Amino acid sequence: MAQSYYVTTPIYYVNDKPHIGHAYTTLACDVLARFKRLDGYDVTFLTGTDEHGQKVEKAAETAGISPQAFTDAVSQNFRDLTHRMNFSNDDFIRTTEARHKAACQEIWRRLQAKGHITLGKYEGWYSVRDETFFTETELVDGKAPTGAPVEWVEEPSYFFNLSQWQDKLLAYYESNPDFVGPESRFNEVKSFVKSGLRDLSVSRASFKWGVPVPGDDDHVMYVWLDALTNYVTASGWPVDGPDGDAAKHEKLWPADLHMVGKDILRFHAVYWPAFLMAAGLPLPKRVFAHGWWTNEGQKISKSLGNAIDPNQLADQYGLDQTRYFLLREVPFGNDGDFSVKAMVQRMNGDLANDLGNLSQRVLSMIFKNCAGVMPALPATPSAQDKALLDAADALLEKVRQLIDRQAFHEALRDIWQVIADANRYVDAVAPWALRKTDPDRMNEVLAVLAETIRQVAILVQPVMPDAACRMLDQIGVPQDQRHFACLGESGRLAGGQVIGKPEPVFPRYVEDSE
Ligand code: MSP
Repeated sequence: MAQSYYVTTPIYYVNDKPHIGHAYTTLACDVLARFKRLDGYDVTFLTGTDEHGQKVEKAAETAGISPQAFTDAVSQNFRDLTHRMNFSNDDFIRTTEARHKAACQEIWRRLQAKGHITLGKYEGWYSVRDETFFTETELVDGKAPTGAPVEWVEEPSYFFNLSQWQDKLLAYYESNPDFVGPESRFNEVKSFVKSGLRDLSVSRASFKWGVPVPGDDDHVMYVWLDALTNYVTASGWPVDGPDGDAAKHEKLWPADLHMVGKDILRFHAVYWPAFLMAAGLPLPKRVFAHGWWTNEGQKISKSLGNAIDPNQLADQYGLDQTRYFLLREVPFGNDGDFSVKAMVQRMNGDLANDLGNLSQRVLSMIFKNCAGVMPALPATPSAQDKALLDAADALLEKVRQLIDRQAFHEALRDIWQVIADANRYVDAVAPWALRKTDPDRMNEVLAVLAETIRQVAILVQPVMPDAACRMLDQIGVPQDQRHFACLGESGRLAGGQVIGKPEPVFPRYVEDSE
């Protein structure tokens, strides 16, 4: 049976329209999900919306509608984005669903039954924007470290005994060196835990928009305890609950990867594992924190009104071009800057020139010079042929290792090195000149190139599903021979199939001069 792979995005707050940051996190997970499916895994890819809490309640109030009507509408925007961006999620969870309420209340009951939750009183600062509690000493110029305003809160509250989990968390980090990526962020997590943990307020009593605390209707669960639980809800847990599914839970839990932005790593790498340990559930295998995008050098913020709409990017530059850009431009894990200049450079350089021209040149030559019939690979490849084919054959192993470390930019860089090798090979062997002098050799050369293009197109499917599909259609690779087991020698392009007139897959982008 195929090995399971369960990957999750954070669930998005519904107080806001989806922007590039949301699309980025989900895109990274989509590429992982598609990659793993092509590599033979049984993948479950989860995304969704985080709909409770004070922030959402306030946003609904401002909009003048009930929180439920408000979340129904905004959650739909996130669902629409998954379609527009061609995300292949298998499930979309909303925290207002019954299956999720059941999971939250079950987690709570377990934590309480084991004595990890007790009633007390919270006195301190709260940032509604971050949905986070802060102590006086954590404030910077009277605001949250994120710059968000804070308000003083004094209310009865249940507390989770987070302070008791310091040693167990550190021991877990020690024995699971791949638990958090990138490494620099893992080090930050470790020093945060080493510096000591305070008990965590896990309920709110001053508003109602949340999952009710079992047995105490005056409280709703703290939105982060509620939100984090979504990952286990969607695994079919609690298995004896209304939507429980023991086989599914067994297959999916613990999750293979929680992808998050750097701002919410602490919740995933400290609080969530502590909750899970306390509830007696296994811990996720890995959490990866990516960086943040700025817009033409400026921080993206509501007050500046400079959020980048992913729908608009896809409309303007093309969906696959946008997907490629976001994962190629910036080392995954670092912060990155979106600029029109960088976007156009990638589109015209990497896509139109390097990959697009290669494929268009080679296929046009086959169409014209070989009467549209794919030539056969040489029985005895030359040293040059062999060097190029070997480079293409070696890609899967390299790319797989990089993708397993979420190093998307390096994986794409390695694929583009082979594209550059192929372009150098075309220039060196000049098939157009062989047409008159040695047509048999021309056929061999074109076949070697088409085979290289086949492997590249198969490997870029996770990032650019539509464009790769068109390339594979053009060289006549059947639908069922596009998975990774067909890479390398086992799936060599046979030759003999008839190809149509090739159409460019990556047009050059010409900027409007007005
Ligand atoms: N609801 C919580 C997550 C709960 S998960 C159990 C939340 N939601 S969010 O909508 O505010 O943010 C979701 C993700 O978007 C985070 O991973 C965050 O890092 C990411 N981004 C928001 N702005 C971003 C950029 N400007 N750039 C890149 N990603 C950013 O937090």
